Amino acid sequence: MSVSGKKILIAVSGGIAAYKIHFLIRDFVKKGADVQVIMTPDAEQFVTKLSLSTLSKKPVYSDFYGENGTWNSHVELALWADVMVVAPCTANTLSKMVHGMCDNLVIATYMSAKCPVLIAPAMDLDMYVHPSTKKNLELAESFGHTIIPAESGELASGLIGQGRMAEPSTIYNVVEKYFQEELHSNNFEGKTFLITAGPTYEAIDPVRFIGNHSSGKMGFSLAEEAAKRGAKVILISGPSAQTIIDPNVDVYRVTSAKEMLAKVFEFYDKIDIGIASAAVADYAPKEVAKEKIKKNDENLTIELVKNPDILKTMGEKKKHQFLVGFALETQNEEENAKGKLAKKNLDMIVLNSLRDEGAGFKNDTNKIKIFTKTEKVEFDLKSKDDVARDILNFVESQLLK
Ligand code: C5P
Repeated sequence: MSVSGKKILIAVSGGIAAYKIHFLIRDFVKKGADVQVIMTPDAEQFVTKLSLSTLSKKPVYSDFYGENGTWNSHVELALWADVMVVAPCTANTLSKMVHGMCDNLVIATYMSAKCPVLIAPAMDLDMYVHPSTKKNLELAESFGHTIIPAESGELASGLIGQGRMAEPSTIYNVVEKYFQEELHSNNFEGKTFLITAGPTYEAIDPVRFIGNHSSGKMGFSLAEEAAKRGAKVILISGPSAQTIIDPNVDVYRVTSAKEMLAKVFEFYDKIDIGIASAAVADYAPKEVAKEKIKKNDENLTIELVKNPDILKTMGEKKKHQFLVGFALETQNEEENAKGKLAKKNLDMIVLNSLRDEGAGFKNDTNKIKIFTKTEKVEFDLKSKDDVARDILNFVESQLLK
């Protein structure tokens, strides 16, 4: 399946990247999509309605009030769409979206939308890294929206850094992927998953941390697959470049193990299935230096203290939850995995051995074995998306027992 026949609502806000949106509209229309463009009043300073409507083959709206006393209904526009793409999304429009500041047609339409919302931010680099933008992007993700991160390069201001809107081809691919994956079963309907993903970063000083190479891919694939099967998913991720497109996945970004633990227990009582795929740092610096540590001494000793074991704590507080853990082992693999199953009070553990080529952290593939108290099942080397399917098939079979 592609974008053919899909109704795509593109909301353009007032940034210089608006000129690139023509290419996206052209590509969608070429592939048979039905494209409706709306824009903020400021966007009209950058691109014309005439060029956008010529490409989309439809009138373009920027105001509630049409010609000859007609009304451009934001509700109709919103309910019409299969997907809404806000691109470019300026700092101003992003802020209005997440705070419900409904003073133009784009925001009113967004607030009436029931479809997935994709956001392609575009702004100058200092604005992009400003804490308020960061917070607003996090809020948007926690609403279930998909952020298509800005790219690095030369910006219109002449500065070089992150802030450039993702290329139209990148945005196109994200939308196409969503429609390709639209066919789902509903076997997890009514169930809530909590999935931890990615690494954690433990601060040493304001610029340094202890971390690991986890990409977060496994956890994001699991979240996507669970949502496709009808589940509501709370995805709590450490620093990871992965993004997700599914309105049933709420993403919460955290940095350290302690933050991850706190976020997990905001939701723990309400979830049905917990999957801990995060590669949580086992230790964190005892103290975080307030200033950047200078390289004056030949040796530097950093005292580390044990981090909380999030999954073990989940196991200790388990009531109705079905708990799945991961074990990444280099020796005595099976014995260690089974030990963790018991010690952390889990229902199931997924073992990957670093001795298997293509398994583990940074790869797009993984090779797993699954253990319960009574069973052991071995799988071939597969893509992480396929591994996510195997894991959730197994969870399904366990819950049906
Ligand atoms: O004990 P080990 O770190 O090998 O256990 C791995 C499993 O425990 C994984 O599922 C991982 O997500 C989880 N874990 C955790 N908190 C930690 C360490 C591991 O949730 N501090």
